[in-house]
Amino acid sequence: MIRLHDKEFVPYISKEKIQKRVTELAKQIDEDHKDKKPLFIGILNGSFMFAADIFRAITIHAEISFIKLASYVGTTSGSSVITAIGLTEKLENKHVVILEDILDSGRTLSSFLPVIEMQKPASIKIATLLTKPTALRYDIRANYVGFTIPDKFVVGYGLDYNGLGRNLPDIHMLADQ
Ligand code: IMP
Ligand code: MG
Repeated sequence: MIRLHDKEFVPYISKEKIQKRVTELAKQIDEDHKDKKPLFIGILNGSFMFAADIFRAITIHAEISFIKLASYVGTTSGSSVITAIGLTEKLENKHVVILEDILDSGRTLSSFLPVIEMQKPASIKIATLLTKPTALRYDIRANYVGFTIPDKFVVGYGLDYNGLGRNLPDIHMLADQ
C-alpha cells in the first residue's frame, strides 16, 4: 500500500509486466513502420517513461519530440484543455506516432489530433500504455494499447496523482474506489 497526499494506492501492474508489454508494442510499431522513419510525439508529462522505454526498444530509424498539454486536475477530468507547447517539427508527409500514458475520456487527444492533422502528415498512429474503454466519451481509437483497464484511477510509471507517484516503477490503483 502506498500513500500519496490523502489517498492510498495498491499495486496493480508490475514493472516486469509493463516492460514485457512495452517490448511487444515496440516490435509491432517497428514492423508497421519499416523504412518510414517515424516521428514519435510524446505527450508530457505522463508519457515520459513510456516514451523512453518504447523509443529505446524501437530498432528502426526514428525521431522523437515532446509536447505538453494537460486536461486533468486531481482524480476527475478538468474543464479545459491547454494547447500544445513545443510542437516545432514540420509534420507534412511524416509518419507520426503519438505516445500517450492513458486514454481516459479521450478529450485530450480529440483536441490535439486536429492540430496534427492540419499539417498533413503521411500517417498518424496512437500508442497508449493504458486505456479505460468505459470512460471513453470521444471518438478516439488507439492503434497500439498496452493494457485495457477498468475506469479506476491509477498512478506510477509516469502517471501522477496531483504531482506525486510518477516515479513508482509499478502501476498502482486507488484503493476502495
Ligand atoms: P483524457 O483527456 O480524459 O483522455 O485524459 C487523458 C489524460 O488525463 C492522461 O494523459 C492523463 O494525464 C490523465 N489521466 C487520465 N486518467 C488518469 C489516471 O487514472 N491516473 C492519472 N492520470 C490520468
Ligand atoms: Mg497525460
